[in-house]
Amino acid sequence: MKIRIILLVWYVVFTDVTLCTAQHPLGLRAASFLSGIPIGTAIRVNSLRQSVDYGQYVDNVKNNYVLVVGENELKSQSIWLGENIYNFNSSDWLLGNTSNSTGWIQQNLMQLRGHNLVWANDQWIPNWLIEQESSISSAKAKQLLSDYIHTVVGRYRGKIPWWDVINEAVDDNNNTNPFNLRDCFWFRKLGPDFIKYAFTFAHEADPDVKLYYNEYGIEYVSLKTDRMLNLIDWLISQGINVHGIGLQWHIDVSVKVTPGDVHYQSAQQLVDRKLDFMVTELDVSVRTIGGYPINPQDLQTQGLVYRSILEYALYFSSNCRALLTWGFTDRYSWIPSFSNHTRGAALPLDWMYLPKFAYWQMQEILTRILVDGIYRLSPQSKSNQCLGTSLNANSSDVQLYNEPCQDAHQKWNITWLGDGTYRFLSLNAQNHVLSARNTTATIGEVQTSIWSDDIEQGWAFSAQGPHLFRIVPRTAWWRVMTVYNTSSIGIINFDRMSEQNWILTQV
Ligand SMILES: *[C@@H]1O[C@H](CO)[C@@H](O)[C@H](O)[C@H]1NC(C)=O
Ligand SMILES: *[C@@H]1O[C@H](CO)[C@@H](O)[C@H](O)[C@H]1NC(C)=O
Ligand SMILES: *[C@@H]1O[C@H](CO)[C@@H](O)[C@H](O)[C@H]1NC(C)=O
Ligand SMILES: *[C@@H]1O[C@H](CO)[C@@H](O)[C@H](O)[C@H]1NC(C)=O
Ligand SMILES: *[C@@H]1O[C@H](CO)[C@@H](O)[C@H](O)[C@H]1NC(C)=O
Ligand SMILES: *[C@@H]1O[C@H](CO)[C@@H](O)[C@H](O)[C@H]1NC(C)=O
Ligand SMILES: *[C@@H]1O[C@H](CO)[C@@H](O)[C@H](O)[C@H]1NC(C)=O
Ligand SMILES: *[C@@H]1O[C@H](CO)[C@@H](O)[C@H](O)[C@H]1NC(C)=O
Ligand SMILES: *[C@@H]1O[C@H](CO)[C@@H](O)[C@H](O)[C@H]1NC(C)=O
Repeated sequence: MKIRIILLVWYVVFTDVTLCTAQHPLGLRAASFLSGIPIGTAIRVNSLRQSVDYGQYVDNVKNNYVLVVGENELKSQSIWLGENIYNFNSSDWLLGNTSNSTGWIQQNLMQLRGHNLVWANDQWIPNWLIEQESSISSAKAKQLLSDYIHTVVGRYRGKIPWWDVINEAVDDNNNTNPFNLRDCFWFRKLGPDFIKYAFTFAHEADPDVKLYYNEYGIEYVSLKTDRMLNLIDWLISQGINVHGIGLQWHIDVSVKVTPGDVHYQSAQQLVDRKLDFMVTELDVSVRTIGGYPINPQDLQTQGLVYRSILEYALYFSSNCRALLTWGFTDRYSWIPSFSNHTRGAALPLDWMYLPKFAYWQMQEILTRILVDGIYRLSPQSKSNQCLGTSLNANSSDVQLYNEPCQDAHQKWNITWLGDGTYRFLSLNAQNHVLSARNTTATIGEVQTSIWSDDIEQGWAFSAQGPHLFRIVPRTAWWRVMTVYNTSSIGIINFDRMSEQNWILTQV
């Protein structure tokens, strides 16, 4: 109850939009934690640091995401000011400035994607390099590249799990370069080998980091995708460590994503090569006027597009390591200025930070993983027993019963509540629902209570296999309902023991 009251105050104080019906969502963070596909977003360090918009920016990042990527702060244009001159102000704030210090990332249990070491486009290569180009030999260029990558990757060694080593190296227009590589400073100095060198230096600087090639327009089968794959095949044939491909996914609402289509085929080509991949920069723009959709119906379509891309990520979950959007609120997005304000509204929260249809679709895909119905619940460790309430009594106890478990008080009517959680209604005569109490105590309590739409009466699921689930209290989504001391039922920290898994059988 307390949480809901605080949230109501939050809405009243910080938005001037009435929000009477929407219950606070479980949050994509909890949902993606449960699903196994981490959901992330691009962030602007200064917006976090300055707690812009009365803290709504930072609160939404913390509530919804388990990983972030700096929109600009780890790019060489921000960090590399001259030979041996670096500005680590923002990146240190995120990660800490020594191997044994922490920053915002660790303090908030987040992870950071490093983006990026080499953006193979003159427009985004530090100006001082381009200005001195005629006096920089190939050997000098290689040494500079080595210095930069060793310095930056080395500084955050062990703190960044994934680096985009190369960003956008393949040109859209046809040219005569190998792999149709873009003409850029590094290519002019070193030819295609600059890509090999960059991956090699990054691997030397941190042998544990996963190294990615990140690109737009390769999320579907296309000429550009073929060129990128040829490049990657060549790198791998040279013994270079390439672990994954970042598929940017900057798209608009006209894009349809369905199993077996060109998007699935493109991802399958990565799976066939045993490469990891991520959706790294997803946004789904609509045509706008004054920042608002020209056709409000487009937001419904957009929600379904977000849903279909999350389904695709889940389908490929053995190789797809994460899904990140390029920002999370329409208030801060690159699309309007990039499109001369003809497009925008591309992200899951609107410009007032309110969840859009896209947000609810993502949350639903991550959390609505059980069909509503009447179920029997058995612990995986005691499949001949079931969870029940007292027989037609107002007692709040729950306990395990032995087979055959066919009475009403041993069955539960499980229904989706629309906020990422479910209600467990006992079929005993008293219509009790399963409730979590004192969920953060060492062993939290599981009881029943009369349905009152209380936050403690909501439960989330995490699928462990067909019919096998972890059952998670909404008030403490990192904990689970478990059997302990042989036959007691409680809420404890998740530790992967089979006592924490429940077999749900529809009856
Ligand atoms: C680092 O950046 C912050 C925020 O922009 C600024 O206030 C601070 O002065 C900077 N520190 C240095 C040493 O540049
Ligand atoms: C790291 O930051 C601390 C505190 O801001 C400062 O005292 C220290 O000199 C910095 N160390 C390095 C290596 O930059
Ligand atoms: C932290 O690391 C720095 C160098 O990275 C070192 O000088 C310092 O002694 C270390 N501090 C602790 C407490 O280990
Ligand atoms: C680029 O070359 C390919 C053949 O390699 C051709 O099919 C395509 O039409 C060309 N694209 C442009 C924009 O000229
Ligand atoms: C941007 O839009 C404005 C207003 O519609 C128009 O006047 C201007 O020519 C456009 N600029 C570009 C570069 O398209
Ligand atoms: C259970 O409580 C309800 C509502 O408080 C009451 O109507 C009902 O009589 C009680 N049942 C028993 C068996 O005590
Ligand atoms: C289960 O709950 C749903 C939603 O409240 C309800 O419509 C349905 O009739 C219930 N089924 C049974 C068998 O009680
Ligand atoms: C459990 O919660 C109740 C009220 O909700 C409270 O009175 C009690 O002290 C709590 N017990 C523990 C062990 O936290
Ligand atoms: C579980 O059983 C152990 C050993 O009998 C006992 O020490 C412990 O207090 C029990 N835990 C709870 C929460 O009852």
